[in-house]
Amino acid sequence: MTTYREYHARSLSDPAGFWSEQAQLIDWHQPFSRALDNSNPPFTKWFVGGTTNLCHNAVDRHLATRADQSALIYVSTETNEEKTYTYRQLYREVNRMAGILQGLGVAPGDRVLIYMPMIPEAAFAMLACVRIGAIHSVVFGGFAAVSLATRIDDAQPKVIVSTDAGSRAGKPVAYKPLLDEAITLARFPPQKVLLVDRKLVPMQRVAERDVDYAALRATHMNDEVPCAWLESSEPSYILYTSGTTGKPKGVQRDTGGYAVALAASMRDIFCCAPGETYFSTSDIGWVVGHSYIVYGPLINGMATVMYEGLPIRPDGGIWWSIVEKYKVSTMFSSPTAIRVLKKQDPALLKKYDLSSLRLLFLAGEPLDESTARWISDGIGKPVVDNYWQTETGWPILGVSRGIEPLPSKFGSPGLPAAGYSVKLYNESTGEEITSPQQKGVVAIEGPLPPGCMTTVWRDDERFKRTYWTSVPNQRVYSTFDWGIRDEDGYFFILGRTDDVINVSGHRLGTREIEESLSSHPNVAEVAVVGVVDPLKGQVAMAFAILKDVTKADTHEKRLAHEGEMMKVVATQLGALARPARVHFVSALPKTRSGKLLRRSIQALAEGRDPGDLTTIEDPTALEQIKRAIHA
Ligand code: PRX
Repeated sequence: MTTYREYHARSLSDPAGFWSEQAQLIDWHQPFSRALDNSNPPFTKWFVGGTTNLCHNAVDRHLATRADQSALIYVSTETNEEKTYTYRQLYREVNRMAGILQGLGVAPGDRVLIYMPMIPEAAFAMLACVRIGAIHSVVFGGFAAVSLATRIDDAQPKVIVSTDAGSRAGKPVAYKPLLDEAITLARFPPQKVLLVDRKLVPMQRVAERDVDYAALRATHMNDEVPCAWLESSEPSYILYTSGTTGKPKGVQRDTGGYAVALAASMRDIFCCAPGETYFSTSDIGWVVGHSYIVYGPLINGMATVMYEGLPIRPDGGIWWSIVEKYKVSTMFSSPTAIRVLKKQDPALLKKYDLSSLRLLFLAGEPLDESTARWISDGIGKPVVDNYWQTETGWPILGVSRGIEPLPSKFGSPGLPAAGYSVKLYNESTGEEITSPQQKGVVAIEGPLPPGCMTTVWRDDERFKRTYWTSVPNQRVYSTFDWGIRDEDGYFFILGRTDDVINVSGHRLGTREIEESLSSHPNVAEVAVVGVVDPLKGQVAMAFAILKDVTKADTHEKRLAHEGEMMKVVATQLGALARPARVHFVSALPKTRSGKLLRRSIQALAEGRDPGDLTTIEDPTALEQIKRAIHA
């Protein structure tokens, strides 16, 4: 038997050989001529010359053996609908959607933006895009008009697929007005908007531009749309994520490398077999949804659950009832969601038959020991932390139980997955840290394994500059996370090195929130930092200098002004970006060269020592922050 260490070592010493073997997990139309081309780093190419198609691997190739097996299980506790699509039915729906998109003029290489709640049509649209070689860009339904407009302008989609509304706690949340506003704000409006009418709220249609999905579907019922055979490196999708600047980055994913990496991860990390059922509680708007609601489970011939609803409605047992009913073998969720369940009746964890479930995977934010123990004891299953990013598309760190049943350690996402050479570096000198228990920046030596981002959409320079030059004197990929490694090689992740915050497992940029707050007419200057929160992991906290202070000179006025500013963020970016508090100050701590001392502000907001303040311009600014917090 191969040990994890041998397996991982081989993936690094002979990446081409190692990944050529993994490439057999998927179907190729044309075989590749070279597994790895790293002649122009950091622009690594995997499986050069090979042609394949994600939709073929996720859907078509299973028709021969599992056409009548469940493929997509839709459960909505919002609209009380439940529907299972077999592989054959999924194939039919994807072909119809592909026919519709082609009919709307979508050609290979065109972008299609998908702004949808968790409904099957969202998955059909993703699969239809990759089927015809169009590049999808899914935007999380919780994002509001300004966030959406920024993404429209960057991706310049020919078509947007959307709907009348999502639903939260049984109440419709309109999408269409936000979409219309975003399109009005955008410089590159789409030619067509394809609308799935759920009939949750009335919709205003824009003549010539808006088309109805149900009506078009009826005219494409028998469409058979062939898969476009794409060269392995051709893009499959763009997924926007936040970074240090206010402008989200379009993470570009390839085709062949992604399919291979997901297939290997299903076996090595998630220990899943074809025919089983996978349930990820994420959303298709996030990377976990792309990789482990849609592509990973389907490529692996599994049924995948698409759940629309809250984890606690009708009660905190809903997920476990789904596990029982659909015999889920593998679950994937986030620590925040488990912390939400922790507030519910623990008897709900014992109410259902969970015998089909083997493992619960949690990712997206640090997993604290008490949450991990609570859920693991409660459901009587191992909990597996795993660490990765939108950029990598699949776990960087985990325990590869499919290779060797190594133990997990509380607080640690584990060991590097195959293909990842994970190192720690000193933030200011770039020196590699090899001794255990020392904090450094977590970075990955190139070439990144298959499946990881290939570039920033239409911005190769930004890809190089952002990710590959941030560790001094080293040409390595920076994760922008702090970490330490213990004597056994297990990593521990200690939070971001940049201005990214993690609210309920959702990644947000503080700069975007600052830009949004700055658009309020009474804001002169503002700083946003992430502050620890027992439930959400982190929340955004803002410190603003007002132009006209008389607008907030009494307690009542301050409250009203704070509410107004929070609303600005909620309407522009979305409710999840709304700061938990907006404090008013008359100065912000800066260095003499004018750089905002964010880490000091954050430390104060969390009641910690603000650190080295020798470079501070005006020490009274810190006093103000302290006073504002304690007021
Ligand atoms: O800071 C790390 C944190 O989430 C970031 C990536 O977020 P996102 O791009 O949304 O991708 C999430 C994919 C699961 C990371 O840079 N993070 C993710 N997983 C963990 C984590 N922090 C600690 N432990 C984890 N397991």
